[in-house]
Amino acid sequence: MRVNFGRISPFAPVLKEISVDAALAVAPRPKGDVDALVHLAKDDMAAVDALIIARMQSDVPVIPLLAEHLVSAGGKRLRPLLTVAAARAIGQTGAIEGPKKLAASVEFIHTATLLHDDIVDGSEMRRGKVAAHLIWGSASSVLVGDFLFARAFELMVETDSLRALGILARASAVIAEGEVLQLTRAHDLNLDLDTYLQIIRAKTAELFAAAAESGAVGAGATDEQVAALRDYGMALGIAFQLADDALDYGGATETLGKNAGDDFNEGKATLPLLLAVQRTKGTEDLFWDRVITKGDRKPEDFDRARQLIVASGAVEATLDTASEYADRAKTALQVLPAGPWRSALEALADFAVSRAM
Ligand code: IPE
Ligand code: IPE
Ligand code: MG
Ligand code: MG
Repeated sequence: MRVNFGRISPFAPVLKEISVDAALAVAPRPKGDVDALVHLAKDDMAAVDALIIARMQSDVPVIPLLAEHLVSAGGKRLRPLLTVAAARAIGQTGAIEGPKKLAASVEFIHTATLLHDDIVDGSEMRRGKVAAHLIWGSASSVLVGDFLFARAFELMVETDSLRALGILARASAVIAEGEVLQLTRAHDLNLDLDTYLQIIRAKTAELFAAAAESGAVGAGATDEQVAALRDYGMALGIAFQLADDALDYGGATETLGKNAGDDFNEGKATLPLLLAVQRTKGTEDLFWDRVITKGDRKPEDFDRARQLIVASGAVEATLDTASEYADRAKTALQVLPAGPWRSALEALADFAVSRAM
């Protein structure tokens, strides 16, 4: 059992690596959904949403306007759902004021990273709307992101849980590390699988892990339950980002609410791309070298890349890998009491892979 959370490096192999080989995948991928979880958490999440709206206010005019733009567009609210669900899944039936504040913090951290990420990635659409930096400018977007980060920490302090504060503070640093590491490895077709996993663990899965872990801590879970929920969140987050990377080539802008092809246009070395490069070796090397390594892209190149990536089976192989992590997430839940919350978290793991949004 792990108890010393301060010592666990995000880059340590928390999960034994899974081989990426479509041929190994035999079982069809289960179709999950988030509906059961949304239904169970309805009242708790209404309180979390009210907290989010209340705490993003400011007398400085552009702050609430810009924050509203993103927050009212919705988003799936998966991370705060995870915080609330972790508190409930351990059997807590009474008031969970602490975890609700932590849930709002987690969504603020996520929202702040989206504001920053869209500038870094040059993304033009988020949650079906024009990205905030294109409306208010990058400077305002960066600063409102900072404001939301700070609000997140105010909320955490109000819970009086130094342990939860430590978990989310560390996650915030790890996300930034993941984003920077990714930036330094863009355009690199030789990116190895371990480094790719390191990047997605840090930039995405760490917040899923911290969301679940802090919710459990805030609700007074045992060390074994806390560790299980952290492991669940970590594996879920990896599955989620693998699916996200597959959707960038295999998904549709309309359902995603963000532009498909963003990863390609940024020259990001994601798993579907890396697999397709391997699988088209000898025939498409010049194409990949031009569009990714040299970053010399014409508008029609994305369609060609998408065709090669889909036809080589790289999208399916990425989703199969995601599915293996979803299975790991479900396995981690086995130490929790069986019941509707645990089942809903299991369905969420499958949803992370089967989603189109
Ligand atoms: C977007 O996360 C950022 C990634 C980690 C891919 P979500 O897809 O959860 O974004 P929203 O909150 O639902 O908009
Ligand atoms: C997701 O990054 C992680 C963070 C936002 C920190 P991505 O760049 O892969 O996510 P999208 O595609 O913009 O949502
Ligand atoms: Mg991005
Ligand atoms: Mg992406």
